[in-house]
Amino acid sequence: MAIRSVADIGVMACLTALVALSVVHPADSGANESSAETSRTVLVTGANRGLGLEFARQYAEAGWHVIGTARKPEQAGELKGLGARVAQLDVADQDSVNRLAAELAGQPIDMLINNAGIFPRVGTIEEIDFDDYNRTLAVNTVGPVRVTRALLPNLRQGQLKIIAGLSSNLGSIAKNERGNFYGYRESKAALNMFTKTLAAELGPEGFICVVLTPGWVQTDMGGPNAPLQPADSISGMKAVLDKLTPADNGSFWSYDGSQMPW
Ligand SMILES: NC(=O)c1ccc[n+]([C@@H]2O[C@H](COP(=O)([O-])OP(=O)(O)OC[C@H]3O[C@@H](n4cnc5c(N)ncnc54)[C@H](OP(=O)(O)O)[C@@H]3O)[C@@H](O)[C@H]2O)c1
Repeated sequence: MAIRSVADIGVMACLTALVALSVVHPADSGANESSAETSRTVLVTGANRGLGLEFARQYAEAGWHVIGTARKPEQAGELKGLGARVAQLDVADQDSVNRLAAELAGQPIDMLINNAGIFPRVGTIEEIDFDDYNRTLAVNTVGPVRVTRALLPNLRQGQLKIIAGLSSNLGSIAKNERGNFYGYRESKAALNMFTKTLAAELGPEGFICVVLTPGWVQTDMGGPNAPLQPADSISGMKAVLDKLTPADNGSFWSYDGSQMPW
């Protein structure tokens, strides 16, 4: 059976478990679903707060093995409390990325969510601070490239082979009519291009590479006036991720399940 979606993995795992049960424990046919769930592993960057923490919460609740990264693991109490494995990671620091890859060597990862990001509030071109501008590209664009490349061996060992990046409405060139947000917009548009390029390279291996926009969400980044709560944005994005198939490789999604224009 060709594996086409998360649901297929569950079906395959259940079939395998049922065959095993019919030989070993013919009477115990209800004990296999949780093993299918716990066999999946997701790694979420920037999982100590905001959307990353909510991704970790919802995948942990769904029975996945969650690896959540934090720049300061000692301050990631809420993430630890979910039962997640907490790993140190600064996505802009190659040594830190290398340490993570060494720590996780041999560990299959089914899905990578490149979530960590920053948002400098820049209005006009005169307001650009080039240190901030470079930092934004380093974290939001080069960070996901570093992490994806470093964890590729783990992802190749995983079953789902999903690489998801947190983009933004502000990263859509097609939807940019208002301007502003220099640095952030470019960083997310470049993340989108990276994802398309990666999709073309890794699609033949069965990878599904996508970008998602969470909408405008109440986090430290989104601020208190955002209309969406993290739980609603993440459950929407999780629903998108849950039903991805290889035909979706190289696509840009909104949290509400609609396709985003590039
Ligand atoms: N909230 C929104 O409305 C919205 C809208 C569109 C897109 N997004 C995107 O969604 C993602 C998550 O946003 P959020 O709202 O959850 O932001 P947030 O509340 O500000 O959280 C950002 C997370 O990224 C981590 N991070 C920042 N720099 C990092 C680095 N160099 N290395 C590793 N981790 C780093 C932070 O860790 P520390 O705690 O150590 O700083 C934190 O865990 C971002 O990519 C953002 O661009 C958000």
